[in-house]
Amino acid sequence: MTRRAAIIGTGSYLPERIVSNDELAHTVATSDDWIVERTGIRARHIAADDEMTSDLATIAARRALEAAGIAPEAVGLIVLATTTPDKTFPATAVQVQANLGIGDCVAFDVQAVCSGFLYALSVADAMLCRDPDLVALVIGAETFTRLLDWDDRSTCVLFGDGAGAVVLRSKSDGSGILATRLHADGQHRDLLHVDGGPSSTGTVGKVRMKGREVYRHAVVNLAAVLEEIALAVGVRVEDFDWIVPHQANLRILEGTAKKLGLRPERIVVTVEQQANTSAASVPLALDQAVRDGRVKPGDLVALEAMGGGLTWGAAAILW
Ligand code: ACO
Repeated sequence: MTRRAAIIGTGSYLPERIVSNDELAHTVATSDDWIVERTGIRARHIAADDEMTSDLATIAARRALEAAGIAPEAVGLIVLATTTPDKTFPATAVQVQANLGIGDCVAFDVQAVCSGFLYALSVADAMLCRDPDLVALVIGAETFTRLLDWDDRSTCVLFGDGAGAVVLRSKSDGSGILATRLHADGQHRDLLHVDGGPSSTGTVGKVRMKGREVYRHAVVNLAAVLEEIALAVGVRVEDFDWIVPHQANLRILEGTAKKLGLRPERIVVTVEQQANTSAASVPLALDQAVRDGRVKPGDLVALEAMGGGLTWGAAAILW
């Protein structure tokens, strides 16, 4: 039977501190009602001052390795998706490698904002196809709240921090990643961006977003890429047992589901308590659905995401 890269363990981590909408409303002109009505978000986790993206990633990765029953020394590849690296360089992936005591391996970061985990998974999948003995850690980790302008109520209420990770290994029992599809359209790079960077301003910058336009693109692109991935594996979108979407906004999830005629109970939703954790949101949601028993062997699962770039993508997995 064909060998495929399969997810053999998942893990995640959310920082301890939970900030409710009401707490945010003390410092910015907003309200719980406005945020819940427009986004479905009720709370978000915010990393402690001394917690870096690599710290969140390391805990999520350790939990994924434990779930997979894999020792850190067996890992040969770390692909870490983040928009909020500890430092401009080296890659946060090598910090995680050091934290976990992993020896010589391949370790690098991928930057595709909220689609980062899909991009990272796709790269790792391709590398496992070349080297069936490889064991890979694919991580999405963000301290995204560090990029927020806390005076800009149109963005600061939307995001949170967290990390999710999966362990990939080749299997030949038919399960694993069936297909991935990735897209980018740099024409729309200004719709959602950070107004700084090492080679432009020499600063980190803050998130700027044209929310309405991003919303419009999100519903169109996510519906299209779900149809594309279904076609790639020869099923209809409604045949997926579970859709694990990027958690940007409940209205985007509902709008996409409506457009495609999907059953809402088959969509994994975590946005209410976690907000948008960018590259971490898909593996965070996946870990929750695996651990609570929703996603189980034999299920056909679709992951999908869209983010700054614009970038978007999807993966189909036979669990
Ligand atoms: N609290 C109260 N009022 C607010 C807030 C807030 N937090 N933010 C904006 N408003 C006000 C605005 O100032 C505006 O007031 P005005 O009419 O007096 O000018 C009013 O609310 C409406 O603002 P809009 O921006 O038009 O509100 P909209 O209905 O578009 O909702 C939102 C904004 C929630 C950001 C929506 O556009 C959206 O969800 N966009 C998608 C963006 C997204 O999720 N991005 C995440 C990254 S991309 C991704 O992950 C897919």
